[in-house]
Amino acid sequence: MMSFQNSSAETPRNVIITGASRGLGKAMAARFAQNGDRLFLSASNAASLYKTMEELTSQYPAALVKAKPFDLSEKGGAEDLGHWVLEETGKINRVSRIDVLINNAGQFLPGTIVSEETGVLEKLIEINLYGAYRLTRVLLPKMMRDRAGHIFNICSIASASLCQWRFLQHQ
Ligand SMILES: NC(=O)c1ccc[n+]([C@@H]2O[C@H](COP(=O)([O-])OP(=O)(O)OC[C@H]3O[C@@H](n4cnc5c(N)ncnc54)[C@H](OP(=O)(O)O)[C@@H]3O)[C@@H](O)[C@H]2O)c1
Repeated sequence: MMSFQNSSAETPRNVIITGASRGLGKAMAARFAQNGDRLFLSASNAASLYKTMEELTSQYPAALVKAKPFDLSEKGGAEDLGHWVLEETGKINRVSRIDVLINNAGQFLPGTIVSEETGVLEKLIEINLYGAYRLTRVLLPKMMRDRAGHIFNICSIASASLCQWRFLQHQ
């Protein structure tokens, strides 16, 4: 497991976390903020995202915490988030890197193939898979040019067993 620890003597890292308003994303954001890193956070609900940003800013004043809401279930949401991140990190300095990208935003909507409403599986795939894919596509070219950065995709055991579960649950 990779450590989130960063010596305070080191340059702060630019860290992008999706789904950072609560749960695992917020917990990871707090660990990076504790290290004085620069955080670029997102989620779809503006109120809870900005509340998290304010909490982290007041608890860890050495960290830079920026946040902007984007809905990853919408086609342009992840791409717009990527462009916002490039713009914001570019303001820090000309050679600012994407050090850590954590594709964490996700939902689990329980259901089965025969009982769930039309579009549930598509919605899950849109957020959990395409959201991460589209954001990574915007940020990866810069990371490759810089030859720097780490990408973490937070998944679930459900991604391995979801189809089987949805098909077989009522047999
Ligand atoms: N907790 C577990 O036991 C567990 C187990 C396996 C996998 N995971 C995975 O770990 C990740 C985090 O889980 P968690 O339990 O911390 O989830 P959580 O508490 O429900 O938080 C999910 C985060 O994703 C954001 N999000 C949801 N839909 C979004 C959308 N359409 N666009 C942008 N952001 C969206 C939420 O904010 P908004 O509601 O404001 O959008 C929230 O910040 C997820 O990918 C989940 O699948 C969790």
